[in-house]
Amino acid sequence: MRLSLPHCTIRPWAATDAAALVRHASDREVWRNLRDRFPHPYTDADAASWLGFVAGQTPPTHWAIEVDGEAAGGIGFTVGEDVHARTAEIGYWLGRAVWGRGIATEALRAVTAYAFARHDLERLEAHVFAWNAASVRVLEKAGYVREACLRHAVRKDGEVTDLLIYAILRDARLAPAPPSP
Ligand SMILES: CC(C)(COP(=O)(O)OP(=O)(O)OC[C@H]1O[C@@H](n2cnc3c(N)ncnc32)[C@H](O)[C@@H]1OP(=O)(O)O)[C@@H](O)C(=O)NCCC(=O)NCCS
Repeated sequence: MRLSLPHCTIRPWAATDAAALVRHASDREVWRNLRDRFPHPYTDADAASWLGFVAGQTPPTHWAIEVDGEAAGGIGFTVGEDVHARTAEIGYWLGRAVWGRGIATEALRAVTAYAFARHDLERLEAHVFAWNAASVRVLEKAGYVREACLRHAVRKDGEVTDLLIYAILRDARLAPAPPSP
């Protein structure tokens, strides 16, 4: 899959992305907003392990976000299992050098549309730490709706915080926003 967008390109990860991946990913402010399985510091070995994983994915559900000719972040989704098979969790990150240019919003809109077009999904959801105002804004701009605040559901970086659940349905027209929690 390759999506050429005005400010970035969504395309498969490549072995040649290793150096850019390490440079953009090895940042405490990126790690602080992601699950602990996203490594910090982000080493060459971590990049090799990630690039090996995505190379073997069928079908691929994780892509690089290319900005100014190099991989500057990632976006992808994980399809649920069992009764959750029509739900996928979407996630994304960008290197700090390219924040604030509308790139995450553009990428999220495009991958959301792609996911619904190519996969038998009813729902995409995103899990956001309550302190992550930038990601909340990205989700809202992309049409995701806040459904829940799971109080004290997360401990990250030694701090307990709330987890916000945002979601968008295949046919957003059938899904009026729920009342604010
Ligand atoms: C969250 C992240 C992906 C945003 O990427 P981005 O390309 O800078 O996002 P965009 O430029 O598309 O939009 C950011 C929006 O948040 C707003 N914003 C940024 N920082 C903010 C803050 N501290 N408080 C409130 N709004 C903020 C911006 O003004 C912009 O909104 P606007 O268009 O209305 O002005 C990026 O900061 C990142 O990778 N962070 C670390 C990893 C992460 O948080 N991933 C998401 C996990 S759920």
